Amino acid sequence: MKKIIFSLFVALSSVSAVQAADANAGKEKAGTCSACHGPTGVSASPMFPNLAGQNDAYIIKQLKDFKSGARTDAMMAPMAANLSEADMADLAAHFSGLPSAIEQAAASATSGSSTDAATTTAVAGNVEILSSTPAAAIYKGNVAAGKSKAMVCAACHGADGNSLVPMYPSLAGQSANYLAKQLADFKSAERKDPLMAGMVAALTEEDMHDLAAFFAVQSTNAGTGESNEAGHKLYLGGDAAKGVTACIACHGVNGKGMKQAGFPSITGQSQTYLKKQLASFRDGSRGNDNNGIMRNIAIKLSDADIEAVSQYITSLK
Ligand code: HEC
Ligand code: HEC
Ligand code: HEC
Repeated sequence: MKKIIFSLFVALSSVSAVQAADANAGKEKAGTCSACHGPTGVSASPMFPNLAGQNDAYIIKQLKDFKSGARTDAMMAPMAANLSEADMADLAAHFSGLPSAIEQAAASATSGSSTDAATTTAVAGNVEILSSTPAAAIYKGNVAAGKSKAMVCAACHGADGNSLVPMYPSLAGQSANYLAKQLADFKSAERKDPLMAGMVAALTEEDMHDLAAFFAVQSTNAGTGESNEAGHKLYLGGDAAKGVTACIACHGVNGKGMKQAGFPSITGQSQTYLKKQLASFRDGSRGNDNNGIMRNIAIKLSDADIEAVSQYITSLK
């Protein structure tokens, strides 16, 4: 009898431990994860594992290992670095509760909807990600239509998206997902700029995707700036003492970013523009990054760090 009561107690307490994890809270916290693991836990790229339907205890263990460094991955380390145990439990509850990739595929096949596997779109935050394989298909918009709509942008961003004025960013070769997100953010005023606010006011969602597609396929000018040693170190290695994640984890070795995830290319920009963005993320005046992904990094950068790393970035080709 004692034994039964004991095991009942164990069973009950483990049930309540499971309930302590909040799948809804996990869903909220998964905004950043969806860039790579997909909004329904089914990844948009063969590089990234599916998390939907995975065992929750396994997910928690992996996140702890990424955080402690027991499992190393340049992309996951910064993702796990800021997660508390409660965050990990909530995220695990969310992802383990989602139908698996196979179940999701079966459901869409039987639902009779016209979803074409090659062009299925999924909304991650407000970034549209196309979960298709052909590289050209990641552009949701129409390049030719974008070209004519881009005439009004040329004065500031250059006819081919390579800006000649340091205040104005280059758009050439940028991730289409990122460009479309910025245009939508300017329109909703989540990202604030007086010049851009006027430019986007009349744009429809279709216009934004067409413009994004046009600029994304333009070729970008190689960086011509001088390198900087302190900036190089920060870019490649971050700053463990200050808790600064290495820029390379998300913006890549050559600064080209990750197109599908909507992590921007930061090459081909003037140092003036780069410094302004880093300072704006730091003081919060730019706050359109999902889950504060850039604000959390910029807040730990000194003026000297910003000067050095932005100088280094201008040398990336
Ligand atoms: C920039 C892309 C990216 C983002 C964003 C990202 N991940 Fe990952 N994740 C990866 C990659 C790549 C791997 C595979 C790592 C490896 O090869 O060991 C991975 C692996 C994992 C694994 C291990 C899966 C397994 O089967 O072993 C878990 C769990 C995980 N990620 C959870 C998360 C969570 C939770 C978030 C959000 C807080 C997140 N990831 C955000 C890229 C990303
Ligand atoms: C009068 C000048 C001007 C015109 C015309 C203009 N822009 Fe901009 N644009 C800017 C400025 C200035 C910024 C940088 C805002 C900041 O500092 O955050 C910017 C930023 C952007 C960004 C964000 C780039 C990044 O790397 O984050 C996008 C995307 C963009 N513009 C697209 C467009 C498009 C598309 C058009 C035409 C429909 C256009 N712009 C017309 C001045 C202009
Ligand atoms: C964990 C991923 C991650 C890391 C690490 C990271 N970034 Fe970013 N960064 C982003 C994302 C995502 C955005 C775009 C946010 C948005 O507007 O949606 C961004 C935007 C930027 C921009 C603005 C680009 C533009 O065109 O306006 C700059 C500049 C930048 N990051 C520099 C850096 C530097 C320097 C570091 C290292 C000190 C760094 N980032 C580390 C994810 C990251």
